[in-house]
Amino acid sequence: YLIGTLNTAAVSQPAAVPAAAPIATIVYGSQTGNCETVAKRLSEALSAAGVSSVMLDMLDCRKVELDQARHLLVIVSTHGEGDPPDRARPLYDLLHGRKAPKLASLKYSVLALGDSSYEQFCEAGRRFDAQLEALGAQRLHERVECDVDFQENADRWIEAVVSRLATVRGDVVAPPPSLARPSATVATAYTRKNPWQAPVLANIRLTARDSSKDVRHIELSTEGAGIHYEAGDALGIVPRNSEAEVNALLEHLPFDGDSAVEVNGVNVSLRTALTDHLDIGPLNRSVFEKYATLSQRRSLLELMEQGAGDRLNAALRDSHLIDLIADHPAQGVKAEDFVRILRPLAPRLYSIASSPHATPDEVHLTVRIVTYQSRGRMRGGVVSTALGSATDAHARVAVYPHRNPAFRLPADPNAPIVMIGPGTGVAPFRAFVAEREALGSRGKNWLLFGDRTLRSDFLYQTEWLDWRKRGALHRLDVAFSRDGHEKVYVQHRIREHGAMLYAWLQDGAYVYVCGDAQQMAPDVDAALRDAIRTHGALGDEQLEEFMLNLQRERRYQRDVY
Ligand code: 2AM
Repeated sequence: YLIGTLNTAAVSQPAAVPAAAPIATIVYGSQTGNCETVAKRLSEALSAAGVSSVMLDMLDCRKVELDQARHLLVIVSTHGEGDPPDRARPLYDLLHGRKAPKLASLKYSVLALGDSSYEQFCEAGRRFDAQLEALGAQRLHERVECDVDFQENADRWIEAVVSRLATVRGDVVAPPPSLARPSATVATAYTRKNPWQAPVLANIRLTARDSSKDVRHIELSTEGAGIHYEAGDALGIVPRNSEAEVNALLEHLPFDGDSAVEVNGVNVSLRTALTDHLDIGPLNRSVFEKYATLSQRRSLLELMEQGAGDRLNAALRDSHLIDLIADHPAQGVKAEDFVRILRPLAPRLYSIASSPHATPDEVHLTVRIVTYQSRGRMRGGVVSTALGSATDAHARVAVYPHRNPAFRLPADPNAPIVMIGPGTGVAPFRAFVAEREALGSRGKNWLLFGDRTLRSDFLYQTEWLDWRKRGALHRLDVAFSRDGHEKVYVQHRIREHGAMLYAWLQDGAYVYVCGDAQQMAPDVDAALRDAIRTHGALGDEQLEEFMLNLQRERRYQRDVY
């Protein structure tokens, strides 16, 4: 299953290049679509340099494709605790398994996408890189790693591999083409750097007053913006640290907000850097260690010594940059060195909860307002706090659309779907059902929702019930975890209704999971497998094949975070 096209113009090269074997095989493993975007750019750049290539979703890269590949260009992102994306997993397992192919004649290079606010930065890419080497393949070019603003490093890597491969043709070395900006951005020109200032149309609390959680339904206007999106896409929200937090931090720093500093190669004031570019929230180990080294505070350095691991972990728990600086002032540190140890302020992506066909000119979000205790003080999530307080008629939120091609309704409107979305994971399913209703799709829709209590936390309760009455929702199962003596989660419902789930799958159902990646998604995966194993009477190998086929057919899609 080829996602891209074979660059036939370049294949008609002299005899040394057999027509069936393109010079480059691009494989991408994307969760959010960024890797796919980079893969397309690479494919275009190769084609412009006259290098034939084929582009594959990792899910479609099996042993035969590996055996045929001459130069393998791997683009992969990292999620959670250093995990590869779902769609990269089968290839990852193939390379690490007992049946891993020998790759002695393969040349390769890895582009690793990641987010430096996580400990396991670019871990999936690093492991692919190391394992390909272990299997005998030779590096064509060193691995390049990218942070959330991936464009620049990705372009650097693209230019490097294109210029290497341009020589493979045996021709005179063509200079690498300068990279054209992707043409697809014309329709959605809004980016983090150039966002749409969306008016807030509604900000409604979905959970009851007495709920342990504050979850909002937020409606933003996109009227006149020309923003195009599909059900399943996400909305990026430009993060901005609050003035109060920035002031609190500046108060404890030995330099003032007007000091000039450099971030991402641009000179800005320290205040701007701390407001718009840098994460000044909860600490991770790496920032803590960098600050200890920079400030040379003895009490901090001691925590990094051998054997102090437990005390360091305790210090990191519920820790916050402002508290660290307040307790251990940065005397003698320079502003430019201080900003260098901080992580970039990561963009926040929210699954869109509306359908462009049901509610044109609007984008709806389901947002949990994040609050946490740090050293006895209440603190809030950067973006959710800002969204929560965007209530008055003049409020604006800076947004840009983010494509999520790995989370899409079936192309066939008659295909049944099963949606598993506890908590705010229900957001894209509100979009799915609204979309299918608006388009008159006939396929059956089954929602499994879970939250803490029926009375206070049943998000969009009246909408689901209305949809069920109108026949747009065919089955609804709920699991309220704190209403009874024992916890009931969505996966319990999956097990209870395993026979029906299997029957839906036999009818060609697509299964979607959205929400928590740490606990929920693996538990739900296990429940799905158990149901399929039991009701399909499958052995271990048959089950693996069944799951792999589901993935290949795009019938098991997850949007977990
Ligand atoms: P809890 O908070 O009572 O543990 C949405 O957050 C719902 O997901 C809540 O009911 C929450 O239950 C539940 N939840 C917590 N852990 C879960 C898991 N591992 N699998 C599925 N649901 C879970």
